[in-house]
Amino acid sequence: MLEVQHLAVNYRGVVAVENISFCLQPGEIVGIIGPNGAGKSSLIKGILGLVPVDRGNVKFRSRSLSKQLAQVAYIPQRSQIDWDYPITVQNVVMMARIRHTGLFKSISRHSKLIVQKALMRVGMWELKDRPIGELSGGQQQRVFLAQALAQEAELFLFDEPFIGVDKKTEAMLFEVFDELKSSGKLLLVVGHELRETAREYDRFLLINKTLIANGSPREVITAENIQEAYGDNVIFLHRSPNNVSSGIC
Ligand SMILES: Nc1ncnc2c1ncn2[C@@H]1O[C@H](COP(=O)(O)OP(=O)(O)OP(=O)(O)O)[C@@H](O)[C@H]1O
Ligand SMILES: [Mg+2]
Repeated sequence: MLEVQHLAVNYRGVVAVENISFCLQPGEIVGIIGPNGAGKSSLIKGILGLVPVDRGNVKFRSRSLSKQLAQVAYIPQRSQIDWDYPITVQNVVMMARIRHTGLFKSISRHSKLIVQKALMRVGMWELKDRPIGELSGGQQQRVFLAQALAQEAELFLFDEPFIGVDKKTEAMLFEVFDELKSSGKLLLVVGHELRETAREYDRFLLINKTLIANGSPREVITAENIQEAYGDNVIFLHRSPNNVSSGIC
């Protein structure tokens, strides 16, 4: 379904992603993991064509992904969003409907219902008129999840959705991810968390510029792979398949 071939991204000579290839099928939650600066965000942006790609190509259902961006919902890393932008919760989610509606047409009743349903799903309908900048980190993440839902996409890319969110929001995010997976969507979720949430993923892509490992969490989280990705600064606390636990010093 999603085929990434020999993808390479560099920023004026600084190599961020080097020759990464993989093929993913629908109905999977895929974790993209690796240390800070490993190129996780750059990989996502390279897939979407948001940064100049040196080499490689990305196909979705056998056609170039760049021609089908309406099928993609992308939630950037929180640090990359301008939180002072004066926009309400409801309008953030409504933005997802612009592609369906057209920029200068009025929003259809159908779109309004989809926005309401998405905000209710993430427990944010009550706060629909609040400016996005006034919400907590977890609330903001819920709103962006609602935006992704309202887009009715096929491919979902989340960059570090769990940063700054509490356990309750984290659980809700995984619940929604599971629902999307069950309806045959493909989800790529960036994170450097290797601990108790490993069991929530069907597959991990472990990267550090290049692709170090691609497989089930059990296959990917091995001492050898972690050493290769993170160097010597990782200590394994436990190593059981369903409760993979590591400490990063
Ligand atoms: N806009 C940019 N200009 C120049 N270099 C960049 C730019 N964005 C990222 N880089 C560099 O590319 C490399 C990969 O960065 P990237 O943000 O993709 O890593 P990451 O794995 O997402 O890190 P983090 O876990 O901190 O989010 C780093 O060396 C970073 O300094
Ligand atoms: Mg990043």
